[in-house]
Amino acid sequence: MLVQVPSGEVLTFGDDNFIMFEEVGVKEARKAAFVLVAGGLGERLGYKGIKVALPSETTTGTCFLQNYIACILALQEASCKLLEDKYPVEIPFVIMTSDDTHTPTLKLLESNSFFGMKPGQVKLLKQEKVACLDDNDARIALDPNDKYMIQTKPHGHGDVHSLLYNSGLLNIWHDAGLRWVLFFQDTNGLLFKAIPASLGVSATKGYHVNSLAVPRKAKEAIGGITKLTHADGRTMVINVEYNQLDPLLRTTGHSDGDSNCETGYSPFPGNINQLILELGPYIEELNRTHGAIAEFVNPKYKDSSKTSFKSSTRLECMMQDYPKTLPPTARVGFTVMDAWLAYAPVKNNPEDAAKVPKGNPYHSATSGEMAIYRANSLILRKAGVQIADPITTVFNGQEVEVWPRITWKPKWALIFSDVKKKVNKGCSVSQRSTLVINGENIYFGGLSLDGALLINAVSEAEVQVTGSVENKGWAFKPIDFKDNSLPEENRIRGFVIEKLEQLEKNYSEPGQFSLH
Ligand code: UTP
Repeated sequence: MLVQVPSGEVLTFGDDNFIMFEEVGVKEARKAAFVLVAGGLGERLGYKGIKVALPSETTTGTCFLQNYIACILALQEASCKLLEDKYPVEIPFVIMTSDDTHTPTLKLLESNSFFGMKPGQVKLLKQEKVACLDDNDARIALDPNDKYMIQTKPHGHGDVHSLLYNSGLLNIWHDAGLRWVLFFQDTNGLLFKAIPASLGVSATKGYHVNSLAVPRKAKEAIGGITKLTHADGRTMVINVEYNQLDPLLRTTGHSDGDSNCETGYSPFPGNINQLILELGPYIEELNRTHGAIAEFVNPKYKDSSKTSFKSSTRLECMMQDYPKTLPPTARVGFTVMDAWLAYAPVKNNPEDAAKVPKGNPYHSATSGEMAIYRANSLILRKAGVQIADPITTVFNGQEVEVWPRITWKPKWALIFSDVKKKVNKGCSVSQRSTLVINGENIYFGGLSLDGALLINAVSEAEVQVTGSVENKGWAFKPIDFKDNSLPEENRIRGFVIEKLEQLEKNYSEPGQFSLH
């Protein structure tokens, strides 16, 4: 077999090409449906609740699900506005749950009025669990709490394809003129910063399958996107899981295995498991396969004798294995973006995150939150705002960069050209500052911020912000993650925010206002 680096689109944030793809993507969004896979147990994180209920950042406390819904609604509005559409669309949103996550996910939605989405716009599809196996001879495992029951565990996110096929939703979407299905995961607070440009790439390049990717460090725990050519000439562009990439490369003539090239990164883009599929070809393929995805077992052994498991295993399947059955004519590509813009999942508990080799991402609640502040700071910097350099701090044994705590609602800016329209070059923000932008029409013309500023405005209020704001601001107070008297949401980050002093402005009536 031949293992090569496939071809795809590599984007640079903020250049003309990127801006062009973003604008195409926003136009296309009205023809998209979003699918969140949120049935996972989150064993590595070990959080007692569902992951989508965790705050993506603690400055505003916005949870992942709320953020995702706000992004989809903002895309829906922006897409319809761009096309001056008199009949606004409702972008469908599907959440795949499992027995472990279904009820709490539904409760979270219901108790928050679906975070502003119409209840009929959201559909929950529950995946079933499968029987567990105790040993190499595949003896069925018994439930540790009831020896008359078979132990079961989730079957992997690959179930999403058969669930969608059987739900009948795909044909309904197709008949309604939709063209794209976007799959994404439960805890990536940056994802929607990458969605418009990647959807633009799918539409422009005519990709049937577009995998979002980031530059990958050799041995980093994310799969690599590869082009495999079999001896009989069959080829496929497919994710190879990180634990299989090194042995695969070594047995196919790459004697260095999974190693960095001259760029300092692996030549294989890192798959972040956010997929954009073109609906027509997707339906055709599922009509053939009914959504069945190749299964595998991945037992975690107690020791190198590989005779007994740490805990029971089961058959699993992965959604990114979908291209494996595609015909050679299928257009399978990828879109690479910088990790700071596109990928900061919350997967690891503090103890495991602290053990991640230096230079590789922690993928913890701490790093996931800091990544949001860093991305927003870097985007504003690129738009000409003077943003102070970060400081380095250690929380929960992880060394992270702390940038100013800047957050905005997606309706303020979905894409880079929105940001550029709303800030001018005379603004500056100090490192210890917090800036919360909660409103659509808030314009910054020369703000100098050293402290905390929160602006809440209805869409019909246009607010011009100038002058300087200085106060004690909000500070991070380190906490011990083992301190059980504190909420788990904070403990897994290693800090709480101390709100010392802030300027908070609310504009609840339509009109023109200035804050100076
Ligand atoms: P992860 O790789 O983060 O796995 O899943 P996980 O199962 O949630 O966490 P661990 O491995 O137990 O620590 C990636 C995405 O796939 C979803 C997760 O909810 C997450 O969004 N997923 C995973 C499912 O929807 N179903 C599954 O059976 C497994």
